[in-house]
Amino acid sequence: MNLPLDVQTIRRRFPGLLRAGADRAAVFFDGPAGSQVPRSVADAMSHYLLFENANHGGDFATSVATDAVVQQARLACADLFGADDAEEVVFGPNMTTLTFHLSRALARTWRPGEEVVVTDSDHDANVMPWVLAARDAGCTVQRIAVKPDGSLDQHDVEKKIGKRTRLVAIGAASNLSGTIHPITRMAEIARHHGALTFVDAVHYAPHLHMDVRRFGCDFAVCSAYKFFGPHAGILWGRRALLEEIEAYKVRPAADHGAEKWQTGTASFEAMAGTHAAVEYLARLGHEHAATPPVDRRAALGVAFHAIERHERALCARLLRGLATIPGTHIVGIADPERVHERCPTVSFTHDRHRPAELAKALAARAVHCWAGHSYALALAQALGLHPHGVLRLGLLHYNTEEEVDFVLAQLRELLV
Ligand SMILES: Cc1ncc(COP(=O)(O)O)c(C=O)c1O
Repeated sequence: MNLPLDVQTIRRRFPGLLRAGADRAAVFFDGPAGSQVPRSVADAMSHYLLFENANHGGDFATSVATDAVVQQARLACADLFGADDAEEVVFGPNMTTLTFHLSRALARTWRPGEEVVVTDSDHDANVMPWVLAARDAGCTVQRIAVKPDGSLDQHDVEKKIGKRTRLVAIGAASNLSGTIHPITRMAEIARHHGALTFVDAVHYAPHLHMDVRRFGCDFAVCSAYKFFGPHAGILWGRRALLEEIEAYKVRPAADHGAEKWQTGTASFEAMAGTHAAVEYLARLGHEHAATPPVDRRAALGVAFHAIERHERALCARLLRGLATIPGTHIVGIADPERVHERCPTVSFTHDRHRPAELAKALAARAVHCWAGHSYALALAQALGLHPHGVLRLGLLHYNTEEEVDFVLAQLRELLV
């Protein structure tokens, strides 16, 4: 049996969590917009910039060191995605830019009359790149509807994915409702019709063990700044597809491998930091394992198992607490018995108070959280949450029961 998460030891690794607020340590429930960073990540970035900084591909020492940083970061992210091949890992400034980049390249292979499928649950960064690419290629966009609990309408899934579909773009988990989507099933249906599947795992990555083989998808993206790393986006793609598709690139850039897809000079310091973020997670695995994990991928498995257990308990506590505050309406799955179907990102509205008003009042009490639609525009519209959106309390593994209780007490003071 692996050990339960040692949250107090973990918190000491995050200097940002020591920030003082109104008479107490600040509470960071803003993780879905960007997590705090362990010291090891900042150290790796500063080490790179101070001692190894160079462009890549040269024969001198710092350039050789930079090549090693790139390779190590790719290997680490391959382990995080559950991929075997480091050449399937592409770095970019963020998920949005990578998705626009790939969407344009893929769209060159689409023909008028063909279709692209997006969902009403997704962050706009997994909607508009496909909508615009489809428009330019003369393709039709199909949208999968969501049910009131934030889950995808399965009848619509069967209806919208068909023989004309070229690509299905789907989020692994919603950054607004927290709902986890049936990626494997969706990818199976897409494959059956000869379509590709692109998975936005940005919200999933800090909470659950990504596994592109299990997803059965063709591409997946995530952002390091959501899983305790620096501001960087990461794309995984099947090697054969990355080789086959023509990338928009300059002539001197590589014609093969991941380099073909990395436009311009990359942020090598962000790669050093992303590698350190994966190592941070793997270290959690080593520390919480009953028997030593055989490799980094196995260590990540143990880490996410411990993270999931801890986060589910926090999430259930928050859902139970919110249910006792009159006038609150939780978006998506509100049943504490169903926390395994969602990430610990809990959004809600209140009968009398607007989300922005509540976020401001909580900020004055040193609670960091967001109000609005968090770019999940279609979901906010579909669930009737537009234009004010929701108050989003986003928990990560470094959060505690005591913080959940504190925030609930603040909300009771404000709302009851
Ligand atoms: C689910 C989801 N997808 C995509 C994005 C966009 O990611 P990036 O900021 O790396 O472009 C976000 C950012 O909040 C997100 O939460």
